[in-house]
Amino acid sequence: MTSTRLWRRQNYKYVLVVSLFVFLLLISKYFGEYPTSSVVCTKASENRTKVILLWTTWFDKKSWFFSKSELGRSLSGKKSCPITDCVVTDDQSRLREADVVLFHYKDPPYWPTTRYTHQYYGHFVQEPPGDRGWFSFIEKYEGRMNITINFRHDADIFVPYSVLVPAKKRGEYKQRIALASKRKSVVWPVSHCGTSSQREVYVEELSKHIDVDIYGKCGTHRCPRTRTHSCLEYWENTYKFYLAFENNICDDYITEKLFQPLEYELVPVVLGGGNYSRDAPTHSVINARDFNSPKDLANFLLELGEDDERYNGYFRWKTSYESVSMSEWLSCR
Ligand SMILES: *[C@@H]1O[C@H](CO)[C@@H](O)[C@H](O)[C@H]1NC(C)=O
Ligand SMILES: *[C@@H]1O[C@H](CO)[C@@H](O)[C@H](O)[C@H]1NC(C)=O
Ligand SMILES: *[C@@H]1O[C@H](CO)[C@@H](O)[C@H](O)[C@H]1NC(C)=O
Repeated sequence: MTSTRLWRRQNYKYVLVVSLFVFLLLISKYFGEYPTSSVVCTKASENRTKVILLWTTWFDKKSWFFSKSELGRSLSGKKSCPITDCVVTDDQSRLREADVVLFHYKDPPYWPTTRYTHQYYGHFVQEPPGDRGWFSFIEKYEGRMNITINFRHDADIFVPYSVLVPAKKRGEYKQRIALASKRKSVVWPVSHCGTSSQREVYVEELSKHIDVDIYGKCGTHRCPRTRTHSCLEYWENTYKFYLAFENNICDDYITEKLFQPLEYELVPVVLGGGNYSRDAPTHSVINARDFNSPKDLANFLLELGEDDERYNGYFRWKTSYESVSMSEWLSCR
């Protein structure tokens, strides 16, 4: 009898302790979302596959710009990967294993509840500062990050929007479209009409001296953005030049505005803060900044557009480079 009662009393105590524990656990889980994450000392394991964990979303996308086949598998054999024994994952249950945890600067930060000391926190951003409040979360990230990953060459990890690397196989480029069959001069697809680079002012002046067809809501021509590929195909058959003007003049800031037309038979005319002689293939683009005025540029384009040999020279690079996407580049660097 007494022993049963004693057991009951003991049992009661245990239940109390366990409930208190569960209660605390729930509380800590609830409040754990706040920046005070606990720190646990861990050592990086040298000889195993490195794990890169995508922690925040990237414009609401959990898997960022990686395809399903690229996630969770060892990324060996990629042409641009200097390191091959690594995996990229968006599986948050692998936090303990992760060597690098990535945060997208534009998305609100939410922190892992535990920070393991072997881990590097990396912040990733591909937008220029300034426009549209991209950097509203910058202060929240301050003091917690170990590596910067962005489009600048001086970032800890430089990740361009796309990159063209010298190709292994070379050969003579066979042009598909004759200059004579292109009926029009300049195409400008654009969706932000007023920008800090003031490209719209430049184009207004340029269009006084050469015809510029403006596609999108800033102009009168239409081609749906959802049909990028067929638009570009139509443009390469119709136009000689493509304005690849950035919305911000920032160091090293070169976007898909350049890399998209480079995949087609269009000669891009660039305006931006990038070093195009380093980041674009040799003799592939015309830089507006090399001209004293929009009028000078227009005159140059008019002449070039009548000269088959010189014009075609802008496609000669095409067999000497191959393009590497952002996801391929970022993996394992
Ligand atoms: C890791 O591999 C290197 C070279 O193969 C070896 O020298 C080293 O002892 C290994 N380290 C551990 C912790 O196993
Ligand atoms: C990363 O940065 C944090 C905050 O500055 C620091 O406490 C931590 O030791 C760094 N981690 C590594 C692996 O260097
Ligand atoms: C651009 O890059 C080239 C090649 O790397 C370099 O020689 C040149 O100085 C750079 N120009 C500027 C303005 O930084």
